[in-house]
Amino acid sequence: MKEYRTAIVGATGAVGRELIETLEQRAFPVGKLELFASRRAEGRFLQFRGARVPVRPLEASAVAGTEVAFFSAGGAVSKEFAPLCAANGALVVDNSSAFRQDRNIPLVIPELNGSEVVGRTGIVANPNCSTVQLVLAVAPLQRLWGLRQLCVATYQSVSGTGGRAIQELSQQARSFVDGAALEKSVYPHQIAFNLFPHVGDFGDDGLNVEERKVVYETRRFLKDEALEMNVTAVRVPVFRCHSEAVVAVTKEETSAAQVKQVLRSAPGVRLVEGEDAASYATPVSAEGRDEVFVSRVRDAYPEGHGIAMWVVSDNLRKGAALNAVQIAEVALGLSPVGAA
Ligand SMILES: NC(=O)c1ccc[n+]([C@@H]2O[C@H](COP(=O)([O-])OP(=O)(O)OC[C@H]3O[C@@H](n4cnc5c(N)ncnc54)[C@H](OP(=O)(O)O)[C@@H]3O)[C@@H](O)[C@H]2O)c1
Repeated sequence: MKEYRTAIVGATGAVGRELIETLEQRAFPVGKLELFASRRAEGRFLQFRGARVPVRPLEASAVAGTEVAFFSAGGAVSKEFAPLCAANGALVVDNSSAFRQDRNIPLVIPELNGSEVVGRTGIVANPNCSTVQLVLAVAPLQRLWGLRQLCVATYQSVSGTGGRAIQELSQQARSFVDGAALEKSVYPHQIAFNLFPHVGDFGDDGLNVEERKVVYETRRFLKDEALEMNVTAVRVPVFRCHSEAVVAVTKEETSAAQVKQVLRSAPGVRLVEGEDAASYATPVSAEGRDEVFVSRVRDAYPEGHGIAMWVVSDNLRKGAALNAVQIAEVALGLSPVGAA
């Protein structure tokens, strides 16, 4: 099997580390792995398949021979370096938001629209983590009954902000328990034992960045610019996995029983069912798992059309690294479309 010279840009970050682990776990055919970060990371090594791999500062010349590149170092780095990699013939899967609104660049969840990238090189955009889990859970409803409206409240973990936010929650939690002063630098408020409806800056429309991303990307995936969406994005003191309370309003009549039946075989989705209504997923139970967990599926208003559900997924896996690696697998013909 062909092996690919593979690069991870932003290798020392929360997503970058997960990418390394995911490539290893899925036996992605990496010939040589090259790890890049900022100058701060010079001299560091990370483990891949039992070997120590050096982390190098990102430079244009260093990525010249790359065949597959995963970018997760923020939008500015992607805008500067991803086009260079792509111009050299590489497949570039970008985790930042730099290209998600560019209609010439595919925005891909392999289970839904993997066919758009088969045999492709150049840049492919990986969606926002909150969008991936939402879309995988509601796309089957749209396909069967049409969707009129989505109301979503997110409960987003700090790993969605990156490595520094993970440290901030750990330190604040320790200080809180010790009765010491809490230091904050990443978030506008204390995050330990607190939460806030503030995920990215607010615009003139009153929406924060995350809310706007979820609306834009969900409409793009579902190919429905008129889909009515109300999103409130909330940061919560959880290390890993995002949760979402979703109410979907369908065009045609349906019921929770019918929706559950469909979700039992929906790609990428695991329906959590049990003896009673107290069977549901939590961020802790979803940690490190590949699937989008859907639970508490129930009838809601408007009668016959409203479906409420609780959707939990690991933002660093399906919300970032796993989806990115699956995109590469489909693009390179390593796994068939729809089998991601
Ligand atoms: N976290 C998530 O759940 C998630 C989900 C989807 C998408 N994303 C996106 O993925 C990207 C990375 O997120 P993250 O959570 O992994 O952030 P992070 O933990 O803060 O990591 C950022 C990474 O980027 C590197 N970096 C920063 N400036 C750089 C530069 N000038 N040149 C090269 N490398 C540079 C950092 O290297 P140093 O160690 O040298 O600082 C680090 O490896 C962001 O665009 C984010 O929006 C994140």
